[in-house]
Amino acid sequence: MSYPYQIKNAEEYKAAYKKSTEDPEGFWGEVASHFQWRKPWDKVLDWNFSEPKIEWFKGAKLNITENCIDRHLATMGDKPAIIWEPNNPEERTRVVTYNRLHKRVCQFAQVLTNLGVKKGDRVCIYMGMVPELAYAVLGCARVGAIHSVIFGGFSAQSIADRLYDANAEYIVTCDGAYRGNKDIPLKSVIDDALIGNRTVKKVIVYTRTRTPVSMLKGRDVWWEDEMEHAEQQVEKDGKVSFPATEMDAEDPLFILYTSGSTGKPKGVVHSCAGYMVYTAYTFVNVFQYQKEDIHFCTADIGWITGHSYILYGPLSAGATSVMFEGIPTWPDAGRFWDIIDKYKVNILYTAPTAIRSLMGFGLGHVHGHKLDSLKVLGTVGEPINQEAWHWYHENIGKGKCPIVDTWWQTETGGILISNMAGVTPDKPTYATLPLPGVDPILVDENGKIIEGNNVSGNLCIRHPWPSVIRTTYGDHERCRLNYFSAYPNLYFTGDGASRDENGNYRITGRVDDVLNVSGHRIGTAEVENAINMHAGVVESAVVGYPHDIKGQGVYAYVIYDHVHGDENLTRQDILQTVTRVIGPIAKPDKIQFVKGLPKTRSGKIMRRILRKIAEGDTGNLGDTTTLLDPGVVEEIRSGKL
Ligand code: WTA
Repeated sequence: MSYPYQIKNAEEYKAAYKKSTEDPEGFWGEVASHFQWRKPWDKVLDWNFSEPKIEWFKGAKLNITENCIDRHLATMGDKPAIIWEPNNPEERTRVVTYNRLHKRVCQFAQVLTNLGVKKGDRVCIYMGMVPELAYAVLGCARVGAIHSVIFGGFSAQSIADRLYDANAEYIVTCDGAYRGNKDIPLKSVIDDALIGNRTVKKVIVYTRTRTPVSMLKGRDVWWEDEMEHAEQQVEKDGKVSFPATEMDAEDPLFILYTSGSTGKPKGVVHSCAGYMVYTAYTFVNVFQYQKEDIHFCTADIGWITGHSYILYGPLSAGATSVMFEGIPTWPDAGRFWDIIDKYKVNILYTAPTAIRSLMGFGLGHVHGHKLDSLKVLGTVGEPINQEAWHWYHENIGKGKCPIVDTWWQTETGGILISNMAGVTPDKPTYATLPLPGVDPILVDENGKIIEGNNVSGNLCIRHPWPSVIRTTYGDHERCRLNYFSAYPNLYFTGDGASRDENGNYRITGRVDDVLNVSGHRIGTAEVENAINMHAGVVESAVVGYPHDIKGQGVYAYVIYDHVHGDENLTRQDILQTVTRVIGPIAKPDKIQFVKGLPKTRSGKIMRRILRKIAEGDTGNLGDTTTLLDPGVVEEIRSGKL
């Protein structure tokens, strides 16, 4: 069974693409007609990129959870919506049908209401990958509260910054989370984040690991107690209901913080209608989802991939989505393959870093698995190298599964450039062609459009698609400056790309000061700020370098006024500081102590030189004559780690 808006072959792709550029409003109006609206739109699109002001399905009313849940109940209430695989394979799995999901989301929406949460309130969610995380996210959406999910790898300080930025009054968390052989004490991190906080009114704590936790009277409540009470409120005569809050198409749905090239992470805001239509449309088309398929996206819901392709996209398409609590290498490196055989997974969507890491464990962990249910493979988050692509294609896809290399960003909400499985051809290391509605161009440094093929440049998008970022929370000007001001009337992605003779795009990586470490975005400025907070550090500069598994590693050059104990201990101390300030995910892989940094006479650090040294490419460092003190380069080069 397919979907009315599902593209089935290359000709249909061409026709859809043509229509989407010639008549975007007609095109997206048609796609959107297959969703459930409380009130239809007055106008499909109103926009300008200069403010920016982008309104899709203007005037329409809806609630995304009615699309993701309620409308499926009559025909497929017993179909699994979420299949949950616990961290420990010995533990019982949980299958959440659409009926059950409806009940739990209604219950949690009632809990939020009981605690005083109203439309527009910000709710921060810091949980492990348990079904309750899905209930929390969707429960927020049901009452119109704006969720802000924070990945479990961020520190108390990072959470505190995000709570402050979003002025969040509510938190949903767990006592702890299981990840491989580790228990992560989430509630205790939240407690640290809340020291001195006067804004947060309630913290809802779900019991997962039964780790002892402090529960402050009046502020902290147990999930289980609240849910039990709410159950009696939402269930009458065996019928469950909790009326969804009517939302305007452009009301914010969620905030998700992400790193940029400057300052602190910014809260990317997505709105209800456009995000819903675009994530469902791309889910169905890129993966060529068929109604009985089992879809397994291995991302964490703390990142955009989890939001769009574990929850919202699949659920609004009425799909079955596998949610995995653990990690790919525990109890052993065959875990993904076990899960695929166990649930007969048809679509696997993962990150190149996971593929490279599993490659490193050898084929022994793949052997003994059938993997014959797989039809489609996908990758996301970073460029995939040839070797990993072929390993994935041959050993996991057995040479018969197309690989969709999906390029997109937190800010784009959904996939923008990708082949469609079995519909348009894949090409190793290429994201290939833009999806319908997406108008990519390459520009040079001066914003001049680079026409033709076999060219490369900075990747920009010319026309809005439905799930484009609407604003950065609390600071619209920052949104304009970051994405819409580098080149007038274009959305600038921050990525470099090339285009081959057939118009296929290959994403080559960031052209700004953003690193992509294991598919996670980290701003160099953010890491430098954290390092500079360490006592004794005078200055630091952070760059990326090629890393076999992570894609990019973090290389830090640090000027230190005196080393406390020995150098290695000082390195450990600095890592602790970074862990405290940002979280373990931002820890530098290498720290080189230096006496000076290569600076221009105006005081700007020449990162190009530092990058080259970190990459081990020290033959030709380019022009160093503009440096204040060319001598530091030699010192840095000779001390390279
Ligand atoms: C990179 C993740 C190459 C890119 C969805 C982008 C990719 C950043 C690909 C966004 C891909 C994502 N090929 N690079 N298929 N997908 N990227 O916001 O640099 O976590 O700008 O969103 O990841 O990362 P984010």
